[in-house]
Amino acid sequence: MSRGRFIAFEGGEGMGKSTQARLLAEHLRERGLTVEQTREPGGTPGAEAIRELLLAPPGEGWTLEAEALLFAAARADHVARKIRPALDRGTWVICDRFLDSSRAYQGVAGGLGDDAVRALHEFGSAGLLPDLTIVIDVPTADVADRLAARDGATSDAIGGRTADYHTAVNAAFLDFARAEPDQFAVVDGSGSVEEVHQRVLETVGYRLAGTG
Ligand code: TYD
Repeated sequence: MSRGRFIAFEGGEGMGKSTQARLLAEHLRERGLTVEQTREPGGTPGAEAIRELLLAPPGEGWTLEAEALLFAAARADHVARKIRPALDRGTWVICDRFLDSSRAYQGVAGGLGDDAVRALHEFGSAGLLPDLTIVIDVPTADVADRLAARDGATSDAIGGRTADYHTAVNAAFLDFARAEPDQFAVVDGSGSVEEVHQRVLETVGYRLAGTG
């Protein structure tokens, strides 16, 4: 049996990643593939518990180092218990956020640096990387409107950070994609959900054709 493919969706807040991940998973299932759709932080009971700690921190919140460790710990559990076993049995894995979120949020916007984030990932998850990372890119002004409609005044500990922090996050994803064009594809997230879905399908068909 061939190994499953691993596709991650990345981007800043309110880019429509979760919807696009779900639509791609549904499309691939209709094509007869077995697909596991999952998310980070989360995806296993332990990692979902860590998610709560990260998005609604007790007390005064986490230090930058502690936050990065918690994301890496959640990912380690998720990779060992769900993602690797699925890939090994030939299941495709579609993940809403993965390592590159830690690189963008903790590494670049938080200032921890890429080497530290990658080192945690090597230790925690033996450096597992997606076969393809799709960065959904939407102009910042459009995103502000979507977020206001979605979250109102109820954003979580990370979503509620400054505009400068989120601007740095969004720029980081595009920089990662430019630096490693074989690993990443940037998909224009403007227009309707269906339009973006069609762009995602074209990208996946083109980039992963013949790899399975
Ligand atoms: P998510 O639920 O995907 O938020 P959204 O729907 O707003 O995109 O992710 C939760 C938050 O956690 C989000 O603000 C991004 C952040 N995050 C990190 O800072 N580092 C990480 O490694 C991951 C996976 C998420």
